[in-house]
Amino acid sequence: MVEKNKLVNRSVNLGSVEKIPLGQGFCFVVGKEEIAVFRPRSGGLFALQNRCPHRNAPLCEGIIDNHHVICPYHARKFEFRTGVGSEKGESVQVYDVCVENGDIVLSKCPDANHVST
Ligand code: FES
Repeated sequence: MVEKNKLVNRSVNLGSVEKIPLGQGFCFVVGKEEIAVFRPRSGGLFALQNRCPHRNAPLCEGIIDNHHVICPYHARKFEFRTGVGSEKGESVQVYDVCVENGDIVLSKCPDANHVST
């Protein structure tokens, strides 16, 4: 059994970055973890745990600006680079992500035998 948030040093290809419209997020399931990948209009790509620590809302459905996602349920904000939330002591897991040859690649990931969208 895989522990929640245990990361392993291997890469997982999530497919074309074009799956994610500019200015939006998209949820991928890697092993047992839901990971929200965001593509701000200002550029870059960011990956966070998908479920909000407050009441479990899917952050992939939140509104984003260039640096944050705003939770769709109660509007708490989470910073893309650090995962730090707007409420004291609240944060989400951040994952290393990049684009290689047009594909989204997570470089430290939950231990996973499968990926789905
Ligand atoms: S569920 Fe995200 S702020 Fe409440």
